[in-house]
Amino acid sequence: MRYSILSEPFSGLQADAVVEGLFQEDKPKIGEGYLSPELSKAILAELKRREFDAKEGDVCVLPLLGHRTFKHLIIVGVGKKRNYEQDQLRSMGAKVIKAANSFHAKKIVFHPELLKRAKDQVEGAQALVEGIELGGYHFSSYRKRTAEEHTKKHQAEEILLLAFDRQSKFKIEKGMALGKLLAEAAILARDMVNTPAMDMHPEQMVKIAQSLSGRGTGITCKVVDRGGMEKLGMKASLAVGQGSMHEPKFVHLVYRPSKPKHPKKIVLVGKALTFDSGGLSLKPSEHMTDMKIDMAGAAAVLGVFKALSQLKPSVEVHGVFIAVENMPSGSAYRPGDVVTAMDGTTIEVDNTDAEGRVTLADALSYATHKIKPQAIIDLATLTGAVIIALGSDMTGLFCGNKELKAALFEAAQTSGEQMWELPLYQPYRELIKSKIADVKNVGGRAGGVITSALFLEKFVHDVPWAHLDIAGTAYAEKESKPEWVQGGTGWGVRLLLNYLRQAK
Ligand code: BES
Ligand code: MN
Ligand code: ZN
Repeated sequence: MRYSILSEPFSGLQADAVVEGLFQEDKPKIGEGYLSPELSKAILAELKRREFDAKEGDVCVLPLLGHRTFKHLIIVGVGKKRNYEQDQLRSMGAKVIKAANSFHAKKIVFHPELLKRAKDQVEGAQALVEGIELGGYHFSSYRKRTAEEHTKKHQAEEILLLAFDRQSKFKIEKGMALGKLLAEAAILARDMVNTPAMDMHPEQMVKIAQSLSGRGTGITCKVVDRGGMEKLGMKASLAVGQGSMHEPKFVHLVYRPSKPKHPKKIVLVGKALTFDSGGLSLKPSEHMTDMKIDMAGAAAVLGVFKALSQLKPSVEVHGVFIAVENMPSGSAYRPGDVVTAMDGTTIEVDNTDAEGRVTLADALSYATHKIKPQAIIDLATLTGAVIIALGSDMTGLFCGNKELKAALFEAAQTSGEQMWELPLYQPYRELIKSKIADVKNVGGRAGGVITSALFLEKFVHDVPWAHLDIAGTAYAEKESKPEWVQGGTGWGVRLLLNYLRQAK
């Protein structure tokens, strides 16, 4: 999407649609600067006839037949709030772009009044643009028609944001750039999640990681293959991947800020099962269909890295993932096998479908003992149980560290991503005791999301750590939020970028 920000009045502009917000309690006002009083009055009467009462999120599209400059008017309800905040503007941007795309509008103008009402113009523009980019997202790489052809035919190409003066133009520009950066980062994660597992295999994840590093980025990327992983002791992950024809890969990215000299180190760990068939504990087919999404945690980490070189946070950021595919075959790991993680902990494999935690055992051990960071945050499509507990709009958060938890909730508030805290209830450690090994990989159906987190906790020791179970939120079946479209959501990317931006 192209954006232009103008501080001139309406005259001379041509567009397929003009967007205005309508407040519920205001004396309604439409068309200032571009409609004749008669037409403006007629439109208000038509809105009344349609019983459009400007509730937050309501959208109404009217054709401006015969109007010289604008072909359609898109009216969005803003509700009662005098100053709207980021959530509202993000939703508004997403709803407007979805409405605009439905009648193939190419060029869309936002009335200056719209951003003027934002509590903060920079944040307002940022959220609006996030909504436009995320809500207008289409995944069409696998259509006969190419993505460019699709865009040309169906999607908006240009957005004009109008400002009242130069100062507000400057603020809107700043917010727009940031919103675009964050949305594009989330979109990398969406694309990766939406790509079929036949193409998004460990080698492909490596390629993407490498493409984000190199000269001028401040990012380095280390890739370790089977031999190296063996030497590092990542035997648990190798076991999970041993049924697949795809070679396992371990990836370690580092972003180093130019200052300060001794920055805080933060590690982001992502689950990277490029496909999860369940292994020999094979999933029933209805549960297997979407399991290309099982690398969404690592996709989110890569999304974050895509934005880091421009966002330039002042902390050192590490990205770690172990990409493997969980397949049944003559060489697959078996229920009952005992595998050894990088830190020496032995794991009894009760069920080969609880594979994510087995690979995370190595990844978290590496983060803890090799990187020695000040914080670890992992994202994983870890359990079906978290969906039962919280549904598909909310991520489960486990975190024993007060400061880290508060910072993450703060970042989530800004990004509009929902999460809910779940307990690291220590007595349930009983449930994952093994008769022959140090731990077993499942603790039964009851409390399944808690026991999965307690399993991971064993590998992080005293490092402040947060675990985000994104099994429900990584992928949207329905467009249950305006900024989501069916498919990968990019959950966590903007949240983590917000978190890293304020971290010191
Ligand atoms: N990748 C799945 C979890 C999942 C389920 C992600 C639904 C996204 C949507 C994970 O590896 C898994 O299979 N978990 C099992 C664990 C069980 C065997 C203890 C589950 O949740 O059923
Ligand atoms: Mn599984
Ligand atoms: Zn899995």
